[in-house]
Amino acid sequence: MRILFVCLGNICRSPTAEGVLRHQLEAEGLAAQVHVASAGTGDWHVGKAPDGRTRRAALARGYDLSRQRAQQVQVAHFGEYDLILAMDKHNLGHLQAMRPHTASGELDLFLRRYGAALDEVPDPYYGGAEGFEQVLDLIEAACRELVVEIKGRL
Ligand code: 4NP
Repeated sequence: MRILFVCLGNICRSPTAEGVLRHQLEAEGLAAQVHVASAGTGDWHVGKAPDGRTRRAALARGYDLSRQRAQQVQVAHFGEYDLILAMDKHNLGHLQAMRPHTASGELDLFLRRYGAALDEVPDPYYGGAEGFEQVLDLIEAACRELVVEIKGRL
């Protein structure tokens, strides 16, 4: 199974989701059966490691994001991933507009699908430290639900 997380810059929210899901899958012994990646709708940060604030907040909870590098989402990704999960409605709209009609994989809003109190992961880029903690809280909880779904699909 192949899963792609998408946000705007691919340096804060979607790299966090990639790292958290990979970590949870490793803990469940499922890492070899699921390919996890992330991408941004924008191209400003392509090739860069995740934002330093994102990396530090994630590392404090045991997630090492330092080897990730930002990429921009491509039309070809729709043929390569079974599930593409957008962090906010703006990201989702962007993805819906570029999705080929022939694409067989699913496209959804990450938190709406996994029953969180919020339906979007707020963009932490221009805010304070608490925003990065909120991103982690929301993503950790939603990834636990996603792992349950993955187990049912494998
Ligand atoms: P992300 O956060 O979409 O969670 O990676 C952002 C990163 C960079 C920018 C905006 C949001 N930016 O405007 O450069």
